[in-house]
Amino acid sequence: MNPYETEKLLNEYLLFHYGADEEVLPWPGGPLDALDYPQRCVAECLEVAALPGNARALDVGCAVGRSSLELARHCSEVVAIDYSARFIEAAKVLQSRGSLVYSRADEGEVVTSLTARIPAGIEAGRVQFECGDACDLRADIGSFDVVFAANLVDRLPAPERFLAALPGLVRPGGQLILTSPYTWLAEFTPREKWLGGRDGRSTLEGLTLALGAAFSLRETRDLPFLIREHARKYQWSVAQASIWRRTV
Ligand SMILES: C[S@@+](CC[C@H](N)C(=O)[O-])C[C@H]1O[C@@H](n2cnc3c(N)ncnc32)[C@H](O)[C@@H]1O
Repeated sequence: MNPYETEKLLNEYLLFHYGADEEVLPWPGGPLDALDYPQRCVAECLEVAALPGNARALDVGCAVGRSSLELARHCSEVVAIDYSARFIEAAKVLQSRGSLVYSRADEGEVVTSLTARIPAGIEAGRVQFECGDACDLRADIGSFDVVFAANLVDRLPAPERFLAALPGLVRPGGQLILTSPYTWLAEFTPREKWLGGRDGRSTLEGLTLALGAAFSLRETRDLPFLIREHARKYQWSVAQASIWRRTV
């Protein structure tokens, strides 16, 4: 079964995207700089001053939608796509009701009921959530001033197909923001399709080979993030953001 269709990951991602800092990490001395990742990816990587008026953004692999909502602070239209019907359904319920109750795992079967809310100052109606496949996006999706894909490439069965579509998706002068901890696993991506992490090649080198003709690499950034599994178990990772500009 697709792990992103399970209740466990739905709850983990609602906490990851919408949990208050103290709900995620009540431990003094924990890695506070790894909190609020979906929000930080947009705040630290999007060049707001370079956006045109009425900017259009695409968030691919949006999960339960926090980064899509953050993009809507700056873009008048955000198309937010994920393969998981369960994640998209949750994002739509949150969008229409403004809140969504979920369970945080604490210990064994013991959970705490929490509420995800649309953050203040965001026009949630700017976001259009839909189910879709990053490797086979609908033909009429159009083009964008920003394409954003957080922690996606190492979860795709055919990442090269997603990358090959990007020159047609990002408008000339537009921004491409990719982040990933480059956790390549054969259960998601057949080894021969890994962009890096094999044959002595890094994923950044693989991305540059695939994107270099149509994009210039502006900057890379290290972005730590924290996913809570239960009260005493966390995944701490460091994604690399690569920030690209579509050549004109
Ligand atoms: C590691 S999560 C990252 C989610 C989110 N961007 C974040 O940073 O929290 C990977 C996401 O990609 C989605 N995904 C996996 N394969 C996909 C595909 N072929 N097309 C679109 N989304 C996909 C999963 O459902 C999941 O929501």
